[in-house]
Amino acid sequence: MLITGIKGINDILPDDVGKWQWVESVARRIFSNFGFQEIRIPLLEKTELFARSIGESTDIVEKEMYTFPDRNGQLLTLRPEATASVVRAFIQHRLHLNPTMRKFYTIGPMFRHERPQKGRYRQFHQINAEVFAMDDPMVDAEVIYMLLVFLEELNIPDVTLHINSMGCPDCRQPFRKSLTEYLGRVSDKLCSDCQRRRLTNPLRIFDCKVEPCKQLVREAPVLLDYLCNDCLSNFEGVKEHLTSLGIGYTIDPHMVRGLDYYNRTTFEALTPHLGAQNAVGGGGRYDGLMETLGGPDLPATGFAIGMERLILLLDEKIEIEKDSNRLFLACLGNECQKRGFQFAQQLRLRNIFVEMDYESRSLKAQMRRADKLGATHVLILGDDELAKGVATLRNMETSVQEDIPLEGIVEELLQRLRSAM
Ligand code: HAM
Repeated sequence: MLITGIKGINDILPDDVGKWQWVESVARRIFSNFGFQEIRIPLLEKTELFARSIGESTDIVEKEMYTFPDRNGQLLTLRPEATASVVRAFIQHRLHLNPTMRKFYTIGPMFRHERPQKGRYRQFHQINAEVFAMDDPMVDAEVIYMLLVFLEELNIPDVTLHINSMGCPDCRQPFRKSLTEYLGRVSDKLCSDCQRRRLTNPLRIFDCKVEPCKQLVREAPVLLDYLCNDCLSNFEGVKEHLTSLGIGYTIDPHMVRGLDYYNRTTFEALTPHLGAQNAVGGGGRYDGLMETLGGPDLPATGFAIGMERLILLLDEKIEIEKDSNRLFLACLGNECQKRGFQFAQQLRLRNIFVEMDYESRSLKAQMRRADKLGATHVLILGDDELAKGVATLRNMETSVQEDIPLEGIVEELLQRLRSAM
């Protein structure tokens, strides 16, 4: 029986890989201009890391993680996000002692067992950026600015920025009290999940996708009305810096993000072009996480972008550049193939794209393949040419052909192909 891939876990085929590489290279360039350094973290972590950081009663931890005991019986989880792992690595390697280690980015696959649909997958890729040990509102604004500069560079259309403040433990207390009271009044209308969340983590009711709950949430008290003076002036600071950078935003008091670790400013970059999955990226401040995970009490902020969503939004017209010098060796007959086989390796060692035919097909068939591969030049080597001590080089763009002596041909080809770049 045919074994297929897993639902919601997709291959990225060679025709699309160019786009992925391009998106990654733009991220690397822009993020590094903002002082971010790459960090690579594992795909697997102890389950406890995500349970403690994302929160036991979030959808991610309750319903979506790929968790299993390994052969020693240790409970492991395929990472559903990267923030917890970056914080874990920062603490574990005591990077706070090195002042050059403050801004990190990481790119790679994440895993969430969600219902797959356009823009939502079970394995998806994120570009993450995290900043540690800086709590000035300027930093929040700068991180948002970097996200928007990146989306603009990729030409992602009609992006809007939504922001909110999740306050701090001080403002959460009175808010939680008033939210719990409100939810108590409407509890008979809540879904069974929210009935439970009402008692364990009422804020998570804002994530509920069930229609009656969504309706009730619209009428619920919002954290923004309960901010303490510090959080209020911090939020004002962020808004002021956003405005000074020319960034427009919408304040969305119902946007609570799906992870428990946030405080103060949170944000999402939204697009109208992806149906229900309208968030291209999102993030926010998470000042308490480092300490919760056993590290120093350092503030943090960051975001993650969904790469599949970016790729869906890329302009179809974007031309991903291929190597401009591509040589195809069309060899006719055994002897010529042997010679060509050697030329191919010599040229590849000198950094030239070379492809050839190994199946002794007709010249016509080989030329068709050269065309499909986007060859800029074809070197034709047949018995006649061999007898004359030459090979014929055809420029595929101009259709001009010329004979080149076999003696010293590798150097000659190198010169011609390099100058054609
Ligand atoms: P998140 O909002 O859960 O945040 O995910 C960030 C982005 O990942 C989303 O906006 C979306 O584009 C993409 N994404 C999430 N789930 C899926 C999925 N199932 N399929 C496709 N794309 C998806 C976080 O993960 C936080 N760690 C972000 C962060 C970093 N906050 C602070 N630092």
